[in-house]
Amino acid sequence: MMIAPVDPAGEYRVLATEIDDAVRGVLSSGQFVAGAEVAAFERELADYVDTAHVVGVGNGTDALEIALAACGVECGDSVAVPAFTFAATVEAVVRVGATPLLIDIVDSDFAIDVRALAERLAKGAKVKAVIPVHLYGHPADMEALLELRERYGLTVIEDAAQSHGARCRIAGESRRVGGLGDAACFSFYPTKNLGAAGDGGAIATSNAEIAARARLIANHGDASKYEHVLADGRNSRLDAIQAAILRIKLRRLDEWNDARRRIAGSYTANLAPAAVGLPKVRAGAESVYHQFAVRVSERDRTQAVLRELGVAAGVHYPRAIHQQPGFARFAESGESYPCAERAAAEILCLPIYPLMTDETREAVERALVQALEQG
Ligand SMILES: Cc1ncc(COP(=O)(O)O)c(C=O)c1O
Repeated sequence: MMIAPVDPAGEYRVLATEIDDAVRGVLSSGQFVAGAEVAAFERELADYVDTAHVVGVGNGTDALEIALAACGVECGDSVAVPAFTFAATVEAVVRVGATPLLIDIVDSDFAIDVRALAERLAKGAKVKAVIPVHLYGHPADMEALLELRERYGLTVIEDAAQSHGARCRIAGESRRVGGLGDAACFSFYPTKNLGAAGDGGAIATSNAEIAARARLIANHGDASKYEHVLADGRNSRLDAIQAAILRIKLRRLDEWNDARRRIAGSYTANLAPAAVGLPKVRAGAESVYHQFAVRVSERDRTQAVLRELGVAAGVHYPRAIHQQPGFARFAESGESYPCAERAAAEILCLPIYPLMTDETREAVERALVQALEQG
């Protein structure tokens, strides 16, 4: 039997009674879009990430696009993004008509290199906004980025799609990601740390104007019944069934993130002698290990041997952004992105999910050691 990288069905199994009741409740209420469940989830997520507002939307990609528009990013603006992330981060920038400014990442945490961005700004680059991505559940260096925000008046939109519950230290205080910039975007794709039973997303912000604009954009620009105050509104709403399920799973999030951290701790201890680069955690940060991403020199071969040994390890992602055909035009001449390219060539994500047993984890460790020895 193949060891899967994730286990959304297992999460359902342990919560089945609660989820079934909640779904039946929504179905019998007849309120399938928006309504009480969505409002309650928005309130609970806002409390969790410590923001004044949360706006539920259709998915994480929409959350990014709507947040950018709600923050006033528009045609002709430049938005700094990491050169290594899921495509959605960059797609959203392009979809609002802005231009992505690719910035290399840092080897140690796979997040945007804030120093490289600072150099670009110091040389006069006109940047309206920046999207730090807390990749694999590890927070980007928000403390350094918030300093740049002050100095250059940047708009900061966190891409927190992979990092529900992660923390970092800002001015000596441990803070959850999602409430650190002007707005933050979450995905509830089923395999995320907080995963729905379908697509879902949210924008968190403490700025009432950004929240109101985001809500307007996501609901056809409809200010009150059929008074459409925007021409470029759209439909991107969170379903009530997803909200009801997310409310149940949000109550488990900290416990399940702790379980991910325990598994990551065991992987780190047991794989220390192996020829792999292990993930590092920045001082003051708490990763929620959406992925446990190791670096392996012969990655594709190791992944293939692992598969033969019954372990499905993932490659997130096999290409840096500028190596994608659709985004290659955003690579600037004279710029290089060596850390992003290295990550794309070396990264291998081992199975990790909150309900993973010790036996399964040990089987992954044994298989990885064997795969490396065969190399
Ligand atoms: C870093 C990142 N940003 C954005 C998204 C987009 O989220 P969604 O799939 O819900 O549209 C994802 C989802 O995989 C992601 O990993």
